[in-house]
Amino acid sequence: MSVLRTKSVEQSIADTDEPEFRLKKSLSAVDLTVFGIGVVIGAGIFTLTGRAAHDVAGPAIVISFAVAAIACALAALCYAEFASTVPVAGSAYTFSYSSLGELFAWIIGWDLILEMFLGASVVAQGWSAYLGTLMAQLGMPIPEAIGYGGTVDLMAILLVVVLGGLMTFGIKESLRVNMVLVGVKLFIVLFVIIAGIMFINPANWSPFIPEAAPRETANGLTQPLLQFLSGIEPTAFGVGGIFAGAALVFFAYIGFDVVATTAEETKNPQRDLPIGIIASLIICTLLYCAVALVVTGMVPYEDLDPAAALANAFVFHGADWMATLISAGAVAGLTTVVLTLLIGATRIIFAMSRDALLPVGLAKVHPRFRTPWVISIVVTAIVAVVAGFTPIGLLEEMVNIGTLSAFVLVAVGVIVLRRKRPDLPRAFRVPFSPWLPALSAAICIYLMLNLTVETWLRFLVWLAIGFIIYFAYSRQRSRIGQPGYMDITRPEVVSHRRDDSDDDPRA
Ligand code: ALA
Repeated sequence: MSVLRTKSVEQSIADTDEPEFRLKKSLSAVDLTVFGIGVVIGAGIFTLTGRAAHDVAGPAIVISFAVAAIACALAALCYAEFASTVPVAGSAYTFSYSSLGELFAWIIGWDLILEMFLGASVVAQGWSAYLGTLMAQLGMPIPEAIGYGGTVDLMAILLVVVLGGLMTFGIKESLRVNMVLVGVKLFIVLFVIIAGIMFINPANWSPFIPEAAPRETANGLTQPLLQFLSGIEPTAFGVGGIFAGAALVFFAYIGFDVVATTAEETKNPQRDLPIGIIASLIICTLLYCAVALVVTGMVPYEDLDPAAALANAFVFHGADWMATLISAGAVAGLTTVVLTLLIGATRIIFAMSRDALLPVGLAKVHPRFRTPWVISIVVTAIVAVVAGFTPIGLLEEMVNIGTLSAFVLVAVGVIVLRRKRPDLPRAFRVPFSPWLPALSAAICIYLMLNLTVETWLRFLVWLAIGFIIYFAYSRQRSRIGQPGYMDITRPEVVSHRRDDSDDDPRA
């Protein structure tokens, strides 16, 4: 059988109907938008804005945010079409299984695991860093050994374990907590924008795009791949800096794709998923550009704090209580990001183990809570260990490259599935296909080229490990390789599934 064997859309949907693998369908479009904002606004805007403006883009970081938003918007349209056609857990992984084939599905699943595991760990450490700042501001510093950067980051571990417990107990309950924390986070971001306006000095925006300059700290490995390939000296700022900045702050948008991983738990995925994905992206883009504009207006970019720019922009103006408020908001805000990334990671592994590419036993759903409890525990344990014991906090670029490569494959998948299955009902269609999906793939590849050489090397190692697991384990055991599995062509399953909008046994 070819490595490009695919799984039909009908088969993917039929799999979700098997009782032992069936998830509870309880989410609405509003839930999904909140869920999206909950995961998107996080360490990216609270920490990376400062680092990217300070190191590579200057005030033009606002343009970087806009460029990254364009890349995400195009990818979001592709995601929305796929999610409305194949409403099955697993997001880009499942989509590519039905369009590009198993090998690509594996690669994408492997990329998404990287995105979500590493993302959750990175943000858990960011949370711990902000908690440390907050407690110090309140005069109750956390002992160094058990805080951020200490021997064991006990705070990050505690956070992950508590959130992992919530996730195992039930997604609806988790979302209720999420909803409150998202409210706090939105308030803080709006506070930064509105309170910050008072401190803006327009002179800080000039020059808006600082002239390109040699980057002393960058060497062969830490310069963008594009610069490395073109053989020029590592530079920062200028137009190149805008794109390097965009590749970095792309992290701030990561998460809207996680919305698609909850497709099976959505009451009406064909309608609600596109709304949830696109609404959360629009809200976040507006907030990000406003925050970036305000913060670079408040403080000259050379003086921005690369670690906690938002809070420290207020310290810069002597408004310490505002800084404390912002740190508190960041602590609340980053919590929801970690929770959502943990949920996303369990859903990807759930989908992959249901297909037997990973051990099937992992995918069992708890009879009462209707959540994939075995995976939840495994994911929680791994993320807690990584966040607690490793210096992972600076690996945002790894998360970005994993996500961008998944976006590229999703865009290609949309084009392929349109050709292969023009008959499928699509509640949402990307306009101007195939041009728009092709543009989406091209922009994501361009951003990937703006990531550093060392990020590429690490990514290639990650992919190599993935290939070894696939060819040594998953390929032989895969469900679609088993006799009789692909005999099913059942449009009736699709229609049955669409009516089956509320199968909650507890309702
Ligand atoms: N977008 C998320 C954040 O910025 C991952 O923390």
